Amino acid sequence: MTLKSEYTGAKIVGIGYYLPERVLTNLDFEKMVDTTDEWIITRTGIRERHIAAEDQAASDLAFEASRMALEDANVEPEELDLIIVGTVTPDMFVPSAACTLQDRLGAVKSAAFDINAACSGFIYGLSVAHSMISHGKNKTVLVVGVEILSRITDYEDRATCVLFGDAAGAAVLKPCPADEGILSTFMRSDGSYADLLYMPGGGSRRPLNEERLKNGEQFLKMQGNGLFKNAVRAMLEASNHVLIEAGMESKDIDFLIPHQANIRIIEGVRQRLHLPEEKVVVNIDHVGNTSTASIPVAFAEAKERGDIKKGDTILMVGFGGGLTWGAVLIKY
Ligand SMILES: CC(C)(COP(=O)(O)OP(=O)(O)OC[C@H]1O[C@@H](n2cnc3c(N)ncnc32)[C@H](O)[C@@H]1OP(=O)(O)O)[C@@H](O)C(=O)NCCC(=O)NCCS
Repeated sequence: MTLKSEYTGAKIVGIGYYLPERVLTNLDFEKMVDTTDEWIITRTGIRERHIAAEDQAASDLAFEASRMALEDANVEPEELDLIIVGTVTPDMFVPSAACTLQDRLGAVKSAAFDINAACSGFIYGLSVAHSMISHGKNKTVLVVGVEILSRITDYEDRATCVLFGDAAGAAVLKPCPADEGILSTFMRSDGSYADLLYMPGGGSRRPLNEERLKNGEQFLKMQGNGLFKNAVRAMLEASNHVLIEAGMESKDIDFLIPHQANIRIIEGVRQRLHLPEEKVVVNIDHVGNTSTASIPVAFAEAKERGDIKKGDTILMVGFGGGLTWGAVLIKY
């Protein structure tokens, strides 16, 4: 059975986040690798990041963020009919983190699957949820972005280890009239840039063995500079696409929530969109780059502070390994 035709849109009705307790500061990194607090702050904007406990897996972080989002939405887990989890660090390859989360939540009537779109996972998840709801296939969808990048980070590689943090963010979506909620979405990928951010070992191409483990193939490899150049270009393309599709200009948005990869990337996007600083949600200083979790965590924190309010027009824009990028424009 499909939904009534006046409900051909989808809106976020609840948002939540979770940050693990343990914090690693820049001063901690000064003791681990050849770096300084000053270098990290000026080159990235990061001061500290949260790191998951040894016994925490992605679904554990996702569970906490989801509970907060469900409570915010006043939705019971049994009402969910779809769970989408964006992650590149699921508890294990099979089953998906989404299935593990579904069981943990008791979302007994829900389908569940993971999306691997690196840092764009939450944007991709929102886009898929929007399509499923607006086509009348689903009524109550949970979208989660969760990452425990500390598990695939080489803590001897100063160029990557200072960047990443662990976190989860979640949103609950429901149907609404087409001119409310999500106004437009955009997703794009370019696999020819795969070598800018990848993890060589552990998949079907290069299963881990003793030699590959010794070579560190279980860790992320990154070309920071190449990513940096593409990030600003891609985030602008995605932002402009959703704005044009919705018949809006950047001056019409109340908040920009960009993926938090580097304060200089965020600043580059902000300036090119001609936005004042107060319209850009930034939390990279205390969470680092949490990949797919970064946008929902920044959103939920800004809502908690009382900055973001119902009715605000919000542009979320992501970028990540793959390459992947995309944006979602909403009236919250
Ligand atoms: C990683 C990043 C912060 C590096 O900043 P950068 O200005 O591009 O710096 P470079 O990579 O050119 O490196 C400059 C120097 O700093 C050094 N450096 C790298 N990490 C360092 C650290 N933690 N502390 C001190 N020096 C460091 C490099 O070794 C290099 O030294 P060299 O010139 O002697 O070779 C930046 O490129 C970035 O944020 N890129 C995007 C990353 C990203 O978004 N990743 C995830 C995808 S969402």
